[in-house]
Amino acid sequence: MTARTKVKQALDQSKPGSTILVKGWARTIRNSKEVTFISLNDGSCLSGIQVVAEPDLPNYDEVTGIGTGSALAVTGLLQESPAAGQKLELRAQQIEVVGGADQEYPMQKKRHSFEYLRTIAHLRVRSNTFGAVFRVRSALAQEVHRFFAERGFLYVHTPIITANDCEGAGELFRVTTLDLAHPPLVNGEIDFSKDFFATGTGLTVSGQLEGELFAQAFSDIYTFGPTFRAENSNTARHAAEFWMIEPEMAFADLADDADLAEAFFKRLCRFALDHCGEDMNFFNTQIDKGLIQRIEAVAQASFARMDYGEAIERLKKAPVSFQFPVEWGLDLQSEHERYLTEQVVGGPVFILNYPKEIKAFYMRQNDDGKTVAAMDLLVPKVGEIIGGSQREERLELLERRMLETGISSEALSWYLDTRRWGSTPHAGFGLGFERLIMYLTGMENIRDVIPFPRTPRHAEF
Ligand code: 4AD
Ligand code: MG
Repeated sequence: MTARTKVKQALDQSKPGSTILVKGWARTIRNSKEVTFISLNDGSCLSGIQVVAEPDLPNYDEVTGIGTGSALAVTGLLQESPAAGQKLELRAQQIEVVGGADQEYPMQKKRHSFEYLRTIAHLRVRSNTFGAVFRVRSALAQEVHRFFAERGFLYVHTPIITANDCEGAGELFRVTTLDLAHPPLVNGEIDFSKDFFATGTGLTVSGQLEGELFAQAFSDIYTFGPTFRAENSNTARHAAEFWMIEPEMAFADLADDADLAEAFFKRLCRFALDHCGEDMNFFNTQIDKGLIQRIEAVAQASFARMDYGEAIERLKKAPVSFQFPVEWGLDLQSEHERYLTEQVVGGPVFILNYPKEIKAFYMRQNDDGKTVAAMDLLVPKVGEIIGGSQREERLELLERRMLETGISSEALSWYLDTRRWGSTPHAGFGLGFERLIMYLTGMENIRDVIPFPRTPRHAEF
């Protein structure tokens, strides 16, 4: 019994003349009386291996009858291929139909729209595009861990169920075991003291606050986990469930934070180019022409840094009319972000020091009394991809800001304790993993870079 060889290994490393066993799914089948060609794909790489089946196979009739999508185990002789575009093909000696597929199989070879493919997300993974997306996603996730491991960052698993709303935007999904039809009430309101955790809880919007606690012990830490936001924004860049990478460094300021973000982002670009070549070429030719050139430029660029105030000035002078107003004190909208990175800078840009009113309570207050040490990294085509800040490490100032923004210092007393004992200047950021994958693949909808997207009104699969 020969051991299975993955298609990638067969195409990359195996020598013509060897007999191998491959297993996978038939992507395309071309039949004739004399010969049948089957492109067999097992997900290990974009390419399939071409299987050549001839009538000397004992079950040739069965083989000519199989449908696209069938699962096969093929033993055969690897030989040089006379066909253009491939070096090797597999001359079948034995084909076992492991699982057949009939004409109803929806992934027949004609092109389908991404919208349609979302309705069959359980099957779309068997297509070229989604194969490439999820291979790149997996490879990048592993590189994230390597990057931080090399720098001595501790990987911490922050909780998914939480009683705090880190970003303070009220976008928590509730977690409860109360009977929704008959909830216990006190004074006409739901009595969460009777709930599972004896308090109101939700799914985390960020692991940052717990990450900060760990940074005050391990110096450099990161989280990489699922994040949930019940924001009802039906855009191509927002998902209700997404993955975020959040490093946090003690003894670090905003400039250190931007340096880390820049090194991290460039490293991930470089990695995609150097280690996901076949899939990246596919995106470059099929999805987004110019993608590789753009990422190559970013991997080598020195990222621009611009104060929020200057960004507002630039936007006011812009010879275009925006849908949303531009005024000091207002948040930047996606159209503004894209104008800054695409037109003003022509590459990635950090926007620094935003007005405190539009940012979260935990950001460090600057001496001007108006701004906080916040930073957003904007990149072409996506807009904001990283959000971060230096944190307020001064107990009194933090308490005052919490009071102003209506955040209970009682509920966050554990957070304030880190400012009470051994407080350090510290900083961190969050990279939205799906935004990164969109950026690296050129895919334009976040629903197409996460396996089973959760967006308003959608939680199938
Ligand atoms: O800017 P955000 O809200 O920052 C935080 O959550 C901080 N606690 C991070 C930190 O300092 N540790 O989110 C960070 C990033 C955004 O820049 C964006 O890439 C992504 O998370 N993001 C989303 N991605 C997909 N869908 C959504 N609904 C997202 N909201 C934020
Ligand atoms: Mg943000």
